[in-house]
Amino acid sequence: MASVCTSVAAALTALSGSDFLSSADITAEQTAALLQLAIQLKQGERRIDLGNRVLGLIFTKASTRTRVSFQVAMARLGGQTVDLNPQVTQLGRGEPLEDTARVLSRFCDVLAIRTFAQQELADYAHWASIPVINALTDLEHPCQALADFLTMQEAFGDLRGQTLAYVGDGNNVAHSLMLCGALLGVNVRIGCPEGFEPLPGVVDQARSLAVHGAQVSVITDPVEAVRGAQALYTDVWASMGQEQEQAEREQAFQGFCLDEDLLAEADSRAIVLHCLPAHRGEEISAGVMEGSSSRIFDQAENRLHAQQALLAALLGGL
Ligand code: CP
Ligand code: NVA
Repeated sequence: MASVCTSVAAALTALSGSDFLSSADITAEQTAALLQLAIQLKQGERRIDLGNRVLGLIFTKASTRTRVSFQVAMARLGGQTVDLNPQVTQLGRGEPLEDTARVLSRFCDVLAIRTFAQQELADYAHWASIPVINALTDLEHPCQALADFLTMQEAFGDLRGQTLAYVGDGNNVAHSLMLCGALLGVNVRIGCPEGFEPLPGVVDQARSLAVHGAQVSVITDPVEAVRGAQALYTDVWASMGQEQEQAEREQAFQGFCLDEDLLAEADSRAIVLHCLPAHRGEEISAGVMEGSSSRIFDQAENRLHAQQALLAALLGGL
């Protein structure tokens, strides 16, 4: 046990003071170590008290899981969270980001930000003198991916050589799954209709980061995408900010519902994942969501453990 803790700490010490804006911001070794630490925290093998550190949450989009899991993670680390929703701060009245980021850096120890443009997140990171965490942008959802692969690791042990098939929109969640999966040696297949593929630059980046021969592929046939996979994953067809495209997307994604027929094409031990919130009868059938293969609520819980590990590393608590 001691040697496991020592090797995890050695891998994560370099993250102290860093930002986490993308799944690609950390190394393969650090990604695996974060999952290891998350498991230790979840199983009660590690307790970390950071003293009274403060996390500021700036969320310009709705959130249940990310907001609450960050709040609870910080409480478990002996710290606190301050809600800095733009509606209740001067941000909402136009105070410049560069002033806000510098002022908040004098009060808080770390910021978690949910917004639309990745560039806005990068601007916060530029102006802040404390770690900034991506709590979801239009480009990525890296905290989600940590919890997702933690859930897969719990199901299968060694992740290397396993295959995760994501069926749906090539969106922020798909991007972070490709990057994080590649760093963990997991084959990631994105099954999506033409016109809804992940960004080619992110696909290339994931391929360049891949370890242990992991393959990253984009496939337009959903059956081919899921065939033999150990984990099947989906997300909403219209993400936050795309609500006006809902009807058009429902047409485009016909055949991409994660239902019993698609599940039957996967590995017989396959688990089903969804980042939530879910729309039963659209991207996932009610039966698959509630069926015996679903690990969706374990996955939601794992947001807490993965983010607790991340906060401990970024705040130098190891
Ligand atoms: N999966 C996820 O990020 O959920 P929330 O939008 O509720 O935070
Ligand atoms: N792709 C979804 C994820 C929600 C957690 C969105 O951005 O709305």
